[in-house]
Amino acid sequence: MPNKDVAVVILAAGKGTRLKSALAKVLHPAGGRPLVEHVVRSCVPLKTKKIIAIVGHQAEQVSAVVEPLDVEAVAQQPQNGTGHAMQVAKRALGNAKIAIVLPGDAPLIRPETLKALLATHRGGNAAATILTAVLADPSGYGRVVRKSENLVGAIVEDSQLSAEQRELNEINSSIYCFTLAKLWPALAKVKPNNKHREIYLTDAIAVLASGGETVLAQIAADSREVLGCNTRADLAEVDRIFRERKREELMAAGVTIQLPETVLIDPEVTAGEDCTIEPGVQLLGKTKLGARCTVGTGSVLLDVIVGDRAVVKAHCVIEDSRLDAETIVGPFARLRPGTHLKAGARVGNFVEMKKAVIGEGTKVPHLSYIGDAKLGTKSNIGAGTITCNYDGVNKYQTTIGNRVFIGSDAVLVAPVRIGDGAYVAAGSAITENVPADALAIGRGRQLNKKGWAAKRRRELMGVESGKSSHKKVPKRSKRGR
Ligand code: UD1
Ligand code: MG
Repeated sequence: MPNKDVAVVILAAGKGTRLKSALAKVLHPAGGRPLVEHVVRSCVPLKTKKIIAIVGHQAEQVSAVVEPLDVEAVAQQPQNGTGHAMQVAKRALGNAKIAIVLPGDAPLIRPETLKALLATHRGGNAAATILTAVLADPSGYGRVVRKSENLVGAIVEDSQLSAEQRELNEINSSIYCFTLAKLWPALAKVKPNNKHREIYLTDAIAVLASGGETVLAQIAADSREVLGCNTRADLAEVDRIFRERKREELMAAGVTIQLPETVLIDPEVTAGEDCTIEPGVQLLGKTKLGARCTVGTGSVLLDVIVGDRAVVKAHCVIEDSRLDAETIVGPFARLRPGTHLKAGARVGNFVEMKKAVIGEGTKVPHLSYIGDAKLGTKSNIGAGTITCNYDGVNKYQTTIGNRVFIGSDAVLVAPVRIGDGAYVAAGSAITENVPADALAIGRGRQLNKKGWAAKRRRELMGVESGKSSHKKVPKRSKRGR
């Protein structure tokens, strides 16, 4: 159901001093995305009138992340606190009646939780409704002070707690619904009464409550959803939870994941039924696995499209590539951007590829570099084959036809073409095109010198015995001591 009387405000202008980072807090990644992007994506399903992000610290970079998601960025300069950030949003809020406010640093929030919060707010006809959580360790968070079982009296920031209030374990998530007609006058009364001289949005709660307005609190069913990221340790914990959610999603869809806690999967990755992901794998970016694929231990795939029944063996690193159905890669292969293995192709150990199209059923089994190359079908590339694609200035293309046999340790100096059905002798340096069905040999002819080695050995022994006759070598007793 659309919520056209509602606008979202995401507070994302702060620096994040506690992270000790040159990067603004909301740009730090967790679960494969910047924190603020997760927050935006959780708000989109509410179909509100608009989503506003308050930006300040590294405003340009933060805007660049949120604007493509149809978010209006509003600058807060300087950043005088969360209450000030709301005042800055006022004009952009236009005629919205309710604002859902979220911090940019609490990325685990789910759309269902926001929908429930809004329903409570509307149902209770409240001036403000706070999403809270009960935590075993509430330190660092603002605490919720209730004035009755159902009504909130105030939020007290961690730094301003009395000894008694320090015992409270219901925390403010910084996620709220506000009825804007009630918020603005309350916020106008808030003074910067804290050591940072900031206007705290949390202080508007006490103003509303003491003015007799209804302030409700809704306890989050899963307290992990409201985790804020103020430190690197918080970031690691949030990342861990995102990764766990993603693995559970894929397992529920029929993917086997061995030692799941060791496997890292980005949010947009998909995998078909009966895929097997071995321990220590990373599936990143827009990687998509077909059905019944296996990804071997230690492999890292970034933006890779994999067809059905393909096998990536252990310890491969593959980026921006396509592996069609029933291809086999690795172990220890490195496929750089622009590699396309067609159905049934095989790439073995210690092979590097870049911008290479490998035809159906073609094999590159060992120790090769194939770059800027197009290989036909059912060809075999011997161990140690190198395409020399670079002259220090430009890159050149190597083209290999169908059913070609390249002997081991061949060097193919591009630009060069090897015709269909041709053979290249092992150890050749190929600098000219090879016609179809020809044999190319590009190496010095072998010469065997009969008896040369034996003669050499005799000469060496003569020198050795000549030397030793002049030396006094102490004799060892033949009997044991
Ligand atoms: C805030 C709440 C605290 C709550 C906690 C939950 C206040 C005063 N305190 O504390 O009660 O328990 O969140 O995580 O609100 N921001 C701006 N402009 C500013 C200042 C901050 O946009 O001028 C943004 C920050 O970028 C951040 C969010 O507001 O995304 C919250 O600020 P932060 O400094 O993280 O507040 P906390 O100390 O975590
Ligand atoms: Mg915070």
